Amino acid sequence: MSLGRIITAPSILSADFSRIGEEIKKIEIAGGDWIHLDVMDGHFVPNLTFGPKMVHDIRRLTRLPLDVHLMISEPDSFIQDFASAGADHITFHLEAAVHAHRTAHTIRSLGKKVGLSIVPSTPAEALSELLPELDIVIVMTVDPGFGGQSLIERCLEKVRKLDALRKQHGYRYLIEVDGGVNRDTANRVKEAGADVLVSGSAFFSARFPADEIRALRGETIV
Ligand code: DX5
Ligand code: ZN
Repeated sequence: MSLGRIITAPSILSADFSRIGEEIKKIEIAGGDWIHLDVMDGHFVPNLTFGPKMVHDIRRLTRLPLDVHLMISEPDSFIQDFASAGADHITFHLEAAVHAHRTAHTIRSLGKKVGLSIVPSTPAEALSELLPELDIVIVMTVDPGFGGQSLIERCLEKVRKLDALRKQHGYRYLIEVDGGVNRDTANRVKEAGADVLVSGSAFFSARFPADEIRALRGETIV
């Protein structure tokens, strides 16, 4: 069970970067809750996107929370830059951080929400020592790097485990599911215990983006 109302986070990975202002407006008008920004370095994942400048420029366009997902090999080198650029949440990958505890504290010391993410091949148990420190856990349900892939169902078992653990211990992190979330998979993702649904290709390819948001939340579309 999610902790509260479902939060939707359209991912600009699937947006048209040459019209980024309009794309941000599209998220606002459709009723998206957060803006998900995938930062890729061509090293941790086999793709490149953008850096702090994009976050800075988008910060000037919207008051929606900027949910920055760092898919980069050396998160410590860039946290200060993304914080100054106006990120609200900074999520890094467990697989990229030897001293994840320190990285989490650096993010917290900058006044930002702390997120930690795992790729499909990393077990939920690997997060256990850090769970009390986190505001957000991103469970990747595709191998990161590209939008438009199919959700790996097996990863939802980790969402169930993380949901059970937070109930058992009273932890307060939100569970965010990233990859292959659309109106067909959203129910299973929510039933597993997710609070935040990232949606890239499904949101930006939708003819009526507001309907897509409602469908993700499970609200009836008239
Ligand atoms: C994948 C990214 C996702 C991506 C999801 O590496 O982390 O945030 O935008 O895209 P869809 O919703 O198309 O799977
Ligand atoms: Zn992401």
